[in-house]
Amino acid sequence: MAQLKMTGTGSYLPDLIVTNDMMAQIVDTSDKWITSRTGISERRLSAGEPTWYMAAQAAQRALSAAGLEAAALDVILVTTVTPDYFLPSTACILQAELGADHAFCLDVNAACTGFVYALDLANRYLQDPKIAHVLLVSAENLSKLVDFKDRSTCVLFGDGASAIVCSRSAEDESSAVLATRLGAEGKNGRCLVSRALQISHPFMNPDSVWPDRFGEQKNHFVQMEGQEVFKFAVRVLADSLLDVAGQAGLALEDLAFIIPHQANSRIVEAAARRMKVDPGLMVSRMSDFGNTSSASIPICLDELICSGRLKRGDKVAVCGFGAGLTYGAAIFVY
Ligand code: UT7
Repeated sequence: MAQLKMTGTGSYLPDLIVTNDMMAQIVDTSDKWITSRTGISERRLSAGEPTWYMAAQAAQRALSAAGLEAAALDVILVTTVTPDYFLPSTACILQAELGADHAFCLDVNAACTGFVYALDLANRYLQDPKIAHVLLVSAENLSKLVDFKDRSTCVLFGDGASAIVCSRSAEDESSAVLATRLGAEGKNGRCLVSRALQISHPFMNPDSVWPDRFGEQKNHFVQMEGQEVFKFAVRVLADSLLDVAGQAGLALEDLAFIIPHQANSRIVEAAARRMKVDPGLMVSRMSDFGNTSSASIPICLDELICSGRLKRGDKVAVCGFGAGLTYGAAIFVY
């Protein structure tokens, strides 16, 4: 069976750092509230960099780390909830930026779980003997979706991108995805919503009123039932990580790192308690970057790889959760 090997990673984080004290200048909040409730101290926000640009920067770094020409890519997968265009897809824009003319391209929207969904897809594509290299890019500009007058959401999110070249590994190598578990609870979709454009055309009856699917929403800003998402996150983090560990025949202690979606350090700590695992295994980097949605897990992964803390042969679990509501976990050998 073909196996997935991560042959290069790279990230792009905007230079613009917005601290909690800076947030406290625009909404009624404080560094004390934000750090104690979320673990977030600061976040990077786009100074205008579009999503496609951040994606391209991260992708070029990952290709360079892999020593691979863009022309060798067979597939480009982009995970984003914050594209710059409805059409074309961010993956197609990226293809043109990179000159990856041979690749087919698609965007994946599984919100903050996007990276885990796309990793599963990349692994499945690599079972096809015609496909040798998949570029997986997670790029998010959450600042586009956030109401900077709403203290309950604007302090949480950040912008950034990260990319991974996933290549088919040689038979004798240990690198592989060992197990995945993906899921969704669409019935709870109302808990985390950002609306798109409304229907408006010359032939419709201007008096017709169709109710919004998730209650009345006047704009595209993120609306979240924070405590509901919190409870969901703790449950699915723990349950799906234990599920993939069971599938792989591993104990969580066998893992070098567990990288959860970086939404809130209290979620990570509560999930660690629920799994009865050493919290030190759980990577927690939201302090510097906030919640970058689907980019949060690969940003952490890239940091671990670039700093030399993650070594070939190490086993890693990743776990995402977010709007949908979606969730997903995977265990792989780096
Ligand atoms: O990636 C997507 C997934 N998203 C998440 O995982 C988010 C999950 N949820 C959470 O992380 C937490 O629920 C939040 C961080 C969003 C909120 O923390 P909380 O401990 O659940 O606070 P809360 O919503 O219960 O609010 C407590 C109080 C409220 O005031 P009252 O009603 O008690 O007077 C809020 O108005 O905190 C107030 N509050 C704030 N105060 C200062 C809410 N946001 C802020 C703020 N600064 N930024």
